[in-house]
Amino acid sequence: MQIAPSLLSADFLHLEKDLRMLNESADILHLDVMDGTQVPNISFGFSVLDPLSKVVTIPMDVHLMVVEPQRWFKKVADDGASMCSFHYEAALSHTAEYLSQIRSLGMKAGVAINPDIPVESLFEFVDKADFILIMSVFAGFGGQKFIPASIERVKALKEHILRSSSNTLIEIDGGVSLDNAAVLREAGVDIAVAGSSVFKAEDPAAMIAALRQA
Ligand code: DX5
Ligand code: ZN
Repeated sequence: MQIAPSLLSADFLHLEKDLRMLNESADILHLDVMDGTQVPNISFGFSVLDPLSKVVTIPMDVHLMVVEPQRWFKKVADDGASMCSFHYEAALSHTAEYLSQIRSLGMKAGVAINPDIPVESLFEFVDKADFILIMSVFAGFGGQKFIPASIERVKALKEHILRSSSNTLIEIDGGVSLDNAAVLREAGVDIAVAGSSVFKAEDPAAMIAALRQA
């Protein structure tokens, strides 16, 4: 399982220090962009993303929690991201079109889904997405409690992916810690986003290694 620490929980007064640590220890850098409308919080935007690519050497994964996400795909690509996801709830009938736009910009395309939307809604996109992001908390804040029903959602999606002989990866996001990492890996998770469990750990690099080996 690859580990994608979420910058949302990093120390914003000493970002460069955290970024250098992540370059050495993490697989992917997960970046949460929130607009206060699609989700009830505002995080950071392009003025933060843009300079990151000068320091970050691991793939950058931008998780867009915004309305009209298609307005920003080009900008996300220009800022050096290699993975980009948007929310199904913000795209609905445009989902396939947005996935294809992200791919045509040279990024891996992902679609994210909140815990209250049936996971089956995304089954039709497994061939069009490079990864599917299952939220295991409601999108908007770091540090929330993992929703256990997410495990069954991962399993259902994994079964569908195997049945379809698709290569789509499953990413999980929200409340990931050593308490659930092993069960998530067994359920079929390929990429685990981890914010507070990594950055609140005494030794974040050791926590990333522990989550990866869970
Ligand atoms: C929540 C974000 C997450 C968040 C995860 O909306 O999408 O990426 O940073 O943080 P933790 O791991 O603390 O739940
Ligand atoms: Zn996220």
